[in-house]
Amino acid sequence: MFENEKRMAAMEALKFVRNDMRIGIGTGSTAYYFIEGLSELVKNGLRITGIPTSKKSEELCRSFNIPVDYNIKDIDIDFDGADEFDPYGNLIKGGGGALVREKIVAYNSREFYVLVDHSKYSERLHKFPLPVEVLPFMSEKTLENIERLGCRASFRDDKKFISDNGNYIIDCVFSYTDPELESQIKMIPGVVEVGIFRHLATKIFQGTIDGCRIIDV
Ligand code: A5P
Repeated sequence: MFENEKRMAAMEALKFVRNDMRIGIGTGSTAYYFIEGLSELVKNGLRITGIPTSKKSEELCRSFNIPVDYNIKDIDIDFDGADEFDPYGNLIKGGGGALVREKIVAYNSREFYVLVDHSKYSERLHKFPLPVEVLPFMSEKTLENIERLGCRASFRDDKKFISDNGNYIIDCVFSYTDPELESQIKMIPGVVEVGIFRHLATKIFQGTIDGCRIIDV
């Protein structure tokens, strides 16, 4: 859905990539367009090092001959998609189950550029169930503890979905996902990471039917 908008967002963001940059490479269908476009630039001589945010994106990078290195401390710009964003640049991420690596890469990047289509915008985060990655150990109890914060929670694909880190994802339906919930959920033992990304995004590239709107946050 909204493939053209996703492609437009990715193409605009690619204009910010320069020689010798170390860049975070996100996960999902919008990030795919970014990776595809990046591979063309690399083929034409661009020198960059990529830090992919999932095994899937790593495989894609390798198949497109995009250099990958995880032993990098200073990341210039991270480019990734999002499931929902609000006017303050708060994000919900993890629809593809890659939230842990995505947050590590975003947190350690000087700039974090988010690539989205128009459907991802909300005045208040409420459309997309909040993904939370949890350890399998006592995970039923962890789910119960998360629900105490006021949501309906369920294991993604009845625990058949296993993250790149060997964990489960719990999808949580809140009537409104208050960004403050990030720290409250993270305090629950067994929670590895929460799909609320606060104060991390620096620019949002929102694809439109014939271009892209860049929002500074
Ligand atoms: C992956 O875990 C997610 O955070 C993705 O970045 C998010 O789901 C966006 O994906 P699309 O670009 O496919 O909508």
